[in-house]
Amino acid sequence: MREIIVNLLLGVGLLAAINSLFQVACFLLIYLRPSKLHRYRHTTAGKPAWAFVTGSSDGIGKAYAFELASRGFNVALHGRSSAKLAKLSEELTAAFPNRSFKTIVADASQCATDEIVSALQGHNLTVLINNAGGGPVPSFGMVSDYTEKEIMDNVNLNATFPALLLSRLLPTLVCNAPSLVINMGSMADNGLPLMSFYNGSKAFSRILCQTMANDMVLEGHAVEVMCVQTGGVTGTSHIKIKPDLFNPDTRTFVKAALARVGCGRAVVVGYFPHALQQVMSDMMPGIIKQKVFINVMKQRREGERERMKNN
Ligand SMILES: NC(=O)c1ccc[n+]([C@@H]2O[C@H](COP(=O)([O-])OP(=O)(O)OC[C@H]3O[C@@H](n4cnc5c(N)ncnc54)[C@H](OP(=O)(O)O)[C@@H]3O)[C@@H](O)[C@H]2O)c1
Repeated sequence: MREIIVNLLLGVGLLAAINSLFQVACFLLIYLRPSKLHRYRHTTAGKPAWAFVTGSSDGIGKAYAFELASRGFNVALHGRSSAKLAKLSEELTAAFPNRSFKTIVADASQCATDEIVSALQGHNLTVLINNAGGGPVPSFGMVSDYTEKEIMDNVNLNATFPALLLSRLLPTLVCNAPSLVINMGSMADNGLPLMSFYNGSKAFSRILCQTMANDMVLEGHAVEVMCVQTGGVTGTSHIKIKPDLFNPDTRTFVKAALARVGCGRAVVVGYFPHALQQVMSDMMPGIIKQKVFINVMKQRREGERERMKNN
């Protein structure tokens, strides 16, 4: 009897070890596989490929625009400020004289999609990056600290606008397939306190991607849909700290995000050190995780209050 129990325990242990090794191998493979971005740089009816990056006048979106242009895409740029977009378009044209760029001004918080759809009409759009987004001002607070309009504008920017844009542009992306959609998610949607409706909007966008990725398979459309979960990235409009391992600059982050294209996951942490942070967070017992989250966010709120007082 004792021998049977020992053998059973050994068997269970072996299975658990094989399962863990398999999980680690699958995790590492995500970051070792080469990117399949080149799949989407193709002509359709003789027309060259275009990428559309929302919120490309600054931060991560601007880095996407440069990176996609360097990988052979023409890029449609978007933001609220025509002056910022015109300057960026000039910079891109100087850096990539063989690429074409166009600018589209549209307020995402008002879900202004008509301007975008008509500006992209007739282009061979094969890549859509839903990047425009961000927190409210101040970034950290209780939901009751914001007005109804502030909450609605922020939810529109981070959730409703990307959903409506997808609904308007999906027929074009299907027509031009193979094509790619990336939504910018946030690891804050793990439940970081003081960011309630921003996190809720990002979670909406993540589930939208996950479900749409299944829709595409169900319908047999060659449209890859991916939500890139993101931790801290610096060099943006609101984060200006010196880059470090867990807070890469926008260029490093975007290269990592585009390297994940074709990895087969609908939701993926784009940048490897952020993925390690996510694994550590997943492994923490709930009560400890809550304490860590609360301490980190209390400090961030204090830091933001200090900065606002000094400005
Ligand atoms: N940086 C991070 O640590 C981090 C972490 C997790 C997730 N993310 C996500 O990554 C994405 C990019 O963030 P970022 O840090 O690069 O932000 P950013 O530097 O503030 O850039 C935001 C971009 O979105 C545009 N935008 C903002 N509100 C808009 C509106 N109402 N209508 C049209 N365009 C609008 C901005 O255009 P204007 O030039 O007109 O302002 C700008 O081009 C966001 O979805 C954000 O939630 C960032």
